[in-house]
Amino acid sequence: MSLRSVLVDELRDLYSAENQLVKSLPKLAKGAIDPTLKELFETHLEETKGQVIRLRQVFEHLGKKPTGEHCSGMEGIVEEGSDALEKDEEGAAFDTCLIGAALRTEHYEIAGYNAAISIADSLGEDEIVSLLKENLAEEEAAAKKITSAAQPILEQAAEEPQDEDEKKPKSSHEKTSARKSVQDEHAAASSVRKAS
Ligand SMILES: [Fe+2]
Repeated sequence: MSLRSVLVDELRDLYSAENQLVKSLPKLAKGAIDPTLKELFETHLEETKGQVIRLRQVFEHLGKKPTGEHCSGMEGIVEEGSDALEKDEEGAAFDTCLIGAALRTEHYEIAGYNAAISIADSLGEDEIVSLLKENLAEEEAAAKKITSAAQPILEQAAEEPQDEDEKKPKSSHEKTSARKSVQDEHAAASSVRKAS
C-alpha cells in the first residue's frame, strides 16, 4: 500500500466522520440547556458543513471520490453522545455529559487531521496541507470554546444537589454496556496485575 493510498483512506475516514457530525450536532444543539453551549454547537455545525466542502476540494485535487470508508471510530463516539442525551441527569450536570461527548468528537478529529496533514506534507501536497490545516484550526478553536463554556457549567453543576446513588442500568443498551465493562476488566486483569 502506497503512502498516497494511506492518505486517501485517512481522508475518507475524516470525510465520513464530518458527515456523521453534520447529522449528530443538531441533536446536541437541541439537547443543550445552556444557551452558550447551544450556540456553540450550532456554530460548529455550520463550520462542519464547510469542512465537508473543503474535504471535497481535497478529493478533487487528488482525483479521487470522497466516499468508500465508514468511520467506525466516529460512529462509536456519536453513539456515546446519544447515550449522553438520554441520561436522566438534569440541569448543568446534563450539559456536562454533552460537553464530554462533544470534546471527544473534537479531539478525535484533531488526531485525524494531524495524521492526514503529516502524510500530505511528506508527499509534498502543499495545497491539501493548507486545506486540512483550515479544518484543523476550526476543530482546535471549537474544542477551546467548548472547554471555556464548560467552566461556568461545571461550577453550576457542582452546586446542584449531588445524588451519589449508583444508578442501576435500565435500558437493554445500558445493561449490555454494564456487562461489557465487566468483561473489559476481566480481559485486562492479568496484564494489569503483571504491570503493578
Ligand atoms: Fe469537524
